[in-house]
Amino acid sequence: MSIYEFRVDGHVDEHWATQLGGLRPDHHGDGSTTLTGPVADQAELHGLLARLRDLGTTLLSVRAVPEPAAALRKLDWPARTERLVLRPGTADDADAVFAYRRLEQVARWITELPVDEDVFRTRFATPQRLADTLIVEHDGRVIGDLMLRVEDAWAQAEVADGGRGVQAELGWVFDPAQQGHGYATEAVRELLRICFDGLGLRRVSALCFADNEPSWRLMERVGMRREEHNVRESLHRSGEWLDGFGYALLADEWKAAAGVQDSGA
Ligand SMILES: CC(C)(COP(=O)(O)OP(=O)(O)OC[C@H]1O[C@@H](n2cnc3c(N)ncnc32)[C@H](O)[C@@H]1OP(=O)(O)O)[C@@H](O)C(=O)NCCC(=O)NCCS
Repeated sequence: MSIYEFRVDGHVDEHWATQLGGLRPDHHGDGSTTLTGPVADQAELHGLLARLRDLGTTLLSVRAVPEPAAALRKLDWPARTERLVLRPGTADDADAVFAYRRLEQVARWITELPVDEDVFRTRFATPQRLADTLIVEHDGRVIGDLMLRVEDAWAQAEVADGGRGVQAELGWVFDPAQQGHGYATEAVRELLRICFDGLGLRRVSALCFADNEPSWRLMERVGMRREEHNVRESLHRSGEWLDGFGYALLADEWKAAAGVQDSGA
């Protein structure tokens, strides 16, 4: 079973999607639609291509969504919390994300200060970037983005297979206009549920500059543990070598904490 993404010209409605075996339609600003869903084998893939042809669609592209992005997309979307909606990112989110990532107070803590909107759009729309990106919405508006990058654990050669795709690196960037309301805490708690409950991962980790107190306080609020203090190991664009912190959380720690919360409720 693989996840496939068919991009077609025009806006395909839910009725068509049903005829195509329940593929999920996502409409894009350029007038195209991606239809995403599981495909059992080559026979089913060829059947879907024939149905798309019979429906008279103009097929723009077909691709197998690479694992582990496929596992993430197989989950039920959107995910909802009390105040927020989390969903996979699409190329159409680029402008909303650029609007806050380009701000100096945001960019000073993250890998890149995006300057040119067109360059940002192109990079944001790459399958690799979108595969790791979740969007956080409040009242229908994009307020932040999350990174969920599934990766292999370090493992000795003889057991390397057992370490494949078992953990994730996490990240978060929120619009400063939306900070201070607990939205990041609420979104990252849901992100942890997605990692441990949804994807069955065994460990998550996150890195930040030691000076980025809002970020490491967020990690501590959601129960992550400080595991590393790296001294002057990261070069900031200011030219300074800065200290970094590494945080992590194991699935069984998360489950134990969730159990404590449940019994106390
Ligand atoms: C890191 C970042 C997401 C943290 O944002 P944040 O606003 O501090 O986090 P939250 O949304 O969870 O809000 C928490 C604050 O809201 C307050 N709050 C209000 N209502 C709340 C609620 N219902 N639940 C929890 N906290 C609430 C908390 O007391 C806390 O305030 P404090 O910092 O004064 O103690 C944000 O600073 C950011 O995007 N920074 C730029 C990008 C960045 O650094 N990314 C990380 C790179 S490693």
